Amino acid sequence: MQLDVLVIGSGAREHALAWKLAQSPQCARLFCAPGNAGVAAEPAVTALPDLDVADNDAVVAWCTANRVGLVVVGPEQPLVDGVADALRAGGVPVFGPSAAAAQLEGSKTFLKDLCREYDIPTAAYRSFTDADEAKAYIAAQGAPIVVKADGLAAGKGVTVAATVAEAQAAVDDALVARRFGDAGAEVVVEAFLDGEEASLFAIVDGRTVVTLASAQDHKAVCEGDTGPNTGGMGAYSPAPVVTPSVEAAARATILQRTADAMVDRGTPFTGVLFAGIMVKEGVPVLLEHNVRFGDPECEVLMARLRSDLLPLLLAAALGKLSEAPAPVWADEAALTVVLAANGYPGPYTSGSRIEGLADVRPPAKVFHAGTRAAAGGGVEAAGGRVLAVTASGPNVAAAQAAAYAAVDAVRWPGGFCRRDIGWRAVAREREGGKEERERKREGGRRAAARPPLSPGRRARRCDRMQI
Ligand code: AMP
Ligand code: GLY
Repeated sequence: MQLDVLVIGSGAREHALAWKLAQSPQCARLFCAPGNAGVAAEPAVTALPDLDVADNDAVVAWCTANRVGLVVVGPEQPLVDGVADALRAGGVPVFGPSAAAAQLEGSKTFLKDLCREYDIPTAAYRSFTDADEAKAYIAAQGAPIVVKADGLAAGKGVTVAATVAEAQAAVDDALVARRFGDAGAEVVVEAFLDGEEASLFAIVDGRTVVTLASAQDHKAVCEGDTGPNTGGMGAYSPAPVVTPSVEAAARATILQRTADAMVDRGTPFTGVLFAGIMVKEGVPVLLEHNVRFGDPECEVLMARLRSDLLPLLLAAALGKLSEAPAPVWADEAALTVVLAANGYPGPYTSGSRIEGLADVRPPAKVFHAGTRAAAGGGVEAAGGRVLAVTASGPNVAAAQAAAYAAVDAVRWPGGFCRRDIGWRAVAREREGGKEERERKREGGRRAAARPPLSPGRRARRCDRMQI
């Protein structure tokens, strides 16, 4: 039986979800609210720019009136604000956690306390509402150390401090100056972890956990992973750091334990559980949980997903995930490059025109994030992260080459991108290939691992990163 689907959100993540879901033979009509210019241009998708997705009652009323068979919620804010609860109460199947379960992302203290109670591996921490106590603790612990605003702070609430003074300033910022408003009324101070980061995704319904492919994003704005943090400047999948043994360990000690803990607490989780992990010497440790797909990780996952997404999400929404067929992934790699407005993640201007989008040839695909229709036709920038240019290839290096070829077709002087997305994986592939040849030449006597290229050697100035 076919059904109508509504995707909530306006980023490249939601564009990718809408694009993928609309391909399902089970999908009758696909709506996306509010969407963006790229969503609106998808032939099989109807954008609903006027539906106020911050108004839960309005969303439920629209879904009921239009007999929507599944709602997929993209971003965290509506989930924390209870849109999934409202839809469930209104009898509308929804893929996304309740407000109570969304606290996994909505409150760092909630998450850390859960980890402590249920033995989920994470960095040692303490929570504070008093600035002097937090600063004394930081002085006693020493640097590097990490300060996190408790609540949602649009990706800006975490300070990885190299010095005690920097960490103490972050505490003052949150607790005294109230830079993040109520989201920073409490802070978590936690031990610095080194290692390599990766993103793990699982579809969860209560106790059933279906892991998805791994991905890695680049959060820093500048090449070589330097400069201020952003929502993500690019991503690729699979993430070579997530070996089968890392995945198995993370699945057992992080994802399944979290799902079981939420059932135990009486607030079972339904939706995407996105674990940001740090891997050191093959051991995964939880940095954070998110209750949604990552952006831009979602774009590369959708590019690699060969099976139908709709039955998987619908099964989770209906509490029947254990009966759903397992997802099938392409063997090839996918890579996405984010094009952002000049100035991002600081102040930027909107309204610059973007040309050349029609010159990007399939199978490369441009997912839109902050775009809108320009007066008189065409597309203009309307946000910080604006486009996610996505391509695939037999390995990460090939996907990277295809993605940058597509980036080069886009003409947008108002924006920039990093030119080194995927560098760690490409370096690994190169080293792996070299080692393979050396092993063959030397009859397998050669050692395996070498460190990846140091980011410092690859650092480039941000102001030269023109598209
Ligand atoms: P979060 O929102 O908690 O994932 O933090 C955002 C980013 O800060 C992460 O992606 C990491 O790059 C970094 N980070 C967070 N916690 C730690 C930690 N304990 N040690 C080192 N880096 C961290
Ligand atoms: N790319 C990281 C995130 O979506 O939080």
